[in-house]
Amino acid sequence: MRLQISNFRGIRKGSLELERLNILIGSNNSGKTTILEALFLAPNPIRYVAYGSGYGYSAVSVLSYLHSTLGSEAYVFLLHNYTEKLAGIACTDLSKEVKVWFQRGGNRIEVYVEENNELLYFGYLGSSNKSESILGSALLGQRDSESGRLMPGSRTRPINPRYFISEATGESFYFHPLLMKLIWGYLKDHWVEFRSKGLTSRVAKRISEGVAGDYDDLLLEPFIGGTQTIYVRTKDARGIRLGDLGSGVQVLTTLMLIYEFLKPRMLLIDDIESHMNPMLLTHVVSWFAEILKNDTMLVVSTHSLEAAKFIAGALEEFEPQIVLLSLREGKLRSRNLSLDEVEELEKAGIDVRVGEGILI
Ligand SMILES: Nc1ncnc2c1ncn2[C@@H]1O[C@H](COP(=O)(O)OP(=O)(O)O)[C@@H](O)[C@H]1O
Ligand SMILES: [Mg+2]
Repeated sequence: MRLQISNFRGIRKGSLELERLNILIGSNNSGKTTILEALFLAPNPIRYVAYGSGYGYSAVSVLSYLHSTLGSEAYVFLLHNYTEKLAGIACTDLSKEVKVWFQRGGNRIEVYVEENNELLYFGYLGSSNKSESILGSALLGQRDSESGRLMPGSRTRPINPRYFISEATGESFYFHPLLMKLIWGYLKDHWVEFRSKGLTSRVAKRISEGVAGDYDDLLLEPFIGGTQTIYVRTKDARGIRLGDLGSGVQVLTTLMLIYEFLKPRMLLIDDIESHMNPMLLTHVVSWFAEILKNDTMLVVSTHSLEAAKFIAGALEEFEPQIVLLSLREGKLRSRNLSLDEVEELEKAGIDVRVGEGILI
């Protein structure tokens, strides 16, 4: 799959070829998160995703939540330097292609999705507030031949923008530990479905193998004060709140539940070594092997050569692609590294957090 980005977040211009297993390595501010976010939005930025209560939140509002600061500027973070007029994300896979456009129009950011050369207008996002105004069905759009601006037409397409998922990408799921509580909101509201699919006990047992715990199920029950809380149940029937387990175990439990539920085509995990200790990483990698066999595409980011080497080494049969990234003045550069090269860099004591600019 080929990803192309223009004027989206930190990347003014960049493209990347993605394989089944991709390990993005780079210093801080080298574009890793921007790439993962682009892949999360590519299937359709305003579709409902498994975050938050109810139907879920839109993909783009989840990212806005992640980037919100005091006096947050809602959705302008999508546009490079907050000032560009048009941000684009394109994904091409075999003969299929999807393009997502964010276009500034006054104090709005309009959302267009283009698939099979058909331009569709889905609605707009507020640039100064978190409002979303999304159409009930898409409008066929057009491009002004002089200005190049995208414009909604009047003909409708019977596509519900909240549920549309591009065929070129399939569903994608972006995981960042700061979003875990937002996933728990979704889990709670869909608990019956998770249980009836047998996922709660399956995941609890799988987790037990990895952390030498003794869990046989996950439960949703009231805690002191009455709010519903997720527990892991031990074989001797004690309940331990998921939030009280080590953060790595919380991450893995949450990730496995949501993956098994959604079966996304792409799983995107940001900053993997920062929330996984080495023992857990061993366990995660064996789970990765299972999901890669199901034809899931995996994109993980890290700034640790050691983590990259470990993941790639353990999953060599899936022909991992290790991509070293750098970003300068908005231009994304990348270089594929072999496992040997990663080892050499590690032996030479090169820290990608400071030295990667020299390497590319
Ligand atoms: N909307 C934006 N406009 C301009 N620069 C941005 C925008 N969003 C993020 N950046 C910058 O892009 C760079 C890459 O960020 P990011 O993708 O988060 O890198 P990484 O995840 O590798 O640390 C950072 O320097 C960040 O400050
Ligand atoms: Mg990052």
